[in-house]
Amino acid sequence: MQARLVETAAEKAEADALILPILEGETQVPKEAVALDKKLKGAIEQVLKDREFRGKFMELAPIHNLDTLPSRWTVLVGLGKIEQLDMVRLRNALQAAGRTLRRRGHRRLAVVLPRAVVARAEPADLARAATEGIGLSNFDAGSLKTRHEHAITPIESLTIIGLDGDKAASAAVKDGMVLTEATNRIRDWVNAPANAFTPSVFAEKVKEAIKGTGLDVKVLDMDEMRRMKMGALLAVARGSDEPAKMIVLRYAKGRKGGPTLALVGKGITFDSGGISIKPSLNMEKMKSDMGGGAAVVGAMLAIAELKPKINVIGIVPTTENMPSGKAIKPGDVVTGSGGKTIEIINTDAEGRLILSDGITYAVNEGATHIVDIATLTGSIARTLGPLAIGAFGNDPALMDLVRRAADLAGERVWELPTWADYDGLIESEIADIKNSTVPWAGATTAALFLREFVDGRPWVHLDIAGSAWQDAPELRTVPKGPTGSGVRVMAHLARLLADG
Ligand code: BES
Ligand code: MN
Ligand code: ZN
Repeated sequence: MQARLVETAAEKAEADALILPILEGETQVPKEAVALDKKLKGAIEQVLKDREFRGKFMELAPIHNLDTLPSRWTVLVGLGKIEQLDMVRLRNALQAAGRTLRRRGHRRLAVVLPRAVVARAEPADLARAATEGIGLSNFDAGSLKTRHEHAITPIESLTIIGLDGDKAASAAVKDGMVLTEATNRIRDWVNAPANAFTPSVFAEKVKEAIKGTGLDVKVLDMDEMRRMKMGALLAVARGSDEPAKMIVLRYAKGRKGGPTLALVGKGITFDSGGISIKPSLNMEKMKSDMGGGAAVVGAMLAIAELKPKINVIGIVPTTENMPSGKAIKPGDVVTGSGGKTIEIINTDAEGRLILSDGITYAVNEGATHIVDIATLTGSIARTLGPLAIGAFGNDPALMDLVRRAADLAGERVWELPTWADYDGLIESEIADIKNSTVPWAGATTAALFLREFVDGRPWVHLDIAGSAWQDAPELRTVPKGPTGSGVRVMAHLARLLADG
C-alpha cells in the first residue's frame, strides 16, 4: 500500500472510496465536503439532516457518486462523540472502515479529515492515525483453507486530505507505513499454527525477514545455551521434542557511550502449561504465546527502517512448553544464567523463566535500558481486558518515555504497581525465588519475578496477554485475531530514547 498527503480538494480526489469521517451529532456537511455535496445534489446534507446517519462510532454510510465526481463512492464514517475522540479511536474507526471497503472491492482510498477533527490533535498525530488505521486494515490472517471463497482485495493506495502539506505530517505518513508493514508482517506469525511455527521455523523466518535491512542476527542453539548456563530457558525446553532457540538481533546506529536498549520478547510457540497442564478450552489460542517475541522482531524491522541514532538489541528466547517424561515438575529447582536458583511451583508460569535468561543476556551485553514484552499472565487480561497493555517498571523516567511512545503509537498502555510490599510473593523456602504463588496480583507477581534479573537497570515490562489476540465478541472496535500489540510502542520508544 502507498500512502501520501495531498492538497487536492475532496471533490477533485480520485479514489474508489472517499472516506468522510463525521462526528456524532453533526448535522452540517463539513466545509471540506460542501463542494462535493453540491455535485451529489445535497445527498450528504440530506442524510445528516434526516438523522439517517448519526456519526455513531464506526457507523458507515456509502453514497454512490453516480459519475459526478472523479471518486466512485463517498463513505461517511462515524467517529462518535468529539470529547471521546482520541487517536486510538480514530485509528480503530478507520481500520473498521478500511476492512469493510476492502470487502466491497475498493482498492484506492482517500480520507478527508474535516476541520473539527483536525482541531483535536497535531497534524502529525492525525496523519499517523489515518495511515495506521487504514494500513492495519490491510491485513488478512493467512488462511490454510484449500478453497478461498472470500479473498478480500488489498488496498493499493491511500491519500489523506485536510493536512495541507504539513511537513511533520508527511513524515508521519511515511513512519506510519513502515510501522504498519512491520506490524502486519509479524501478525501473520502470531496467527500461524504451532505445528507450522516451531522455534526453528521462527528463527528461519527472522533470518529471511531481516535480509537487506542491515540488522545483524545470531541464533543460539541448545549447546550454546548449555555453555551459557541458561538453566531457566533449558528447563522449559526439556519437555519438548522441538529444540529451543534464542534469536538475537542487533541494530547499532548509536554513538559510543550512548544508550543501548534491549528488547526482550517471550517466544513460546505453544504453551500447553507443561505438567501443570492447561484446561482444553481455548488451549488452541496458546499458539499465540510468542506474540511478545514476534513484536520484538517487528519493532526491530521498523527500527532498521526508521534509523534512530541508538543501539538496540532484540532478544527472543523461544521454545515450546510441553508435558513429557522429561518435562520440569512442580517443586523442581533450576538455576538461571545469572546464577539465581528458582523453585518451580507451576510449570505454566514458563514465560518468566525463559524471559529471565533473555534479560540476563541483555544485562551481559551491556544494555542500559531493558524492555521486556510477553503474553505473560491471564491476570492482566482479567484486569485490563483485551484493549490495553499492562506496564510495570522500576524507573519513572523510562516509564514516562514508554507512555509517550504509546501515545505516538496509538496503543493503550496502563501502568500497574511493583510495590516492594508484595516482594514476599516470590520468596521461596528452598531457593532464591519461586515462579508462582497465591491466586491474586498475578501480573504484579510476574513483574516482581522479572525485576530480579534486571540488575537495577531502568526496565519496563509490558504484559500483552490481553492485547496480543482479539476474540471478544462484545468488542466491535478491533478485528479478531493477532494485533501486533507492542510493535509500535517499542519502535517509538527507541526513537525517543535516541532523541533524549
Ligand atoms: N501464556 C500464559 C498467559 C496467557 C493466558 C496468555 C491467557 C494469553 C491468554 C502464561 O504462560 C500462563 O500460563 N500464565 C499463568 C501463570 C500462573 C500459572 C502463575 C496464568 O496467567 O494463569
Ligand atoms: Mn503458561
Ligand atoms: Zn505462556
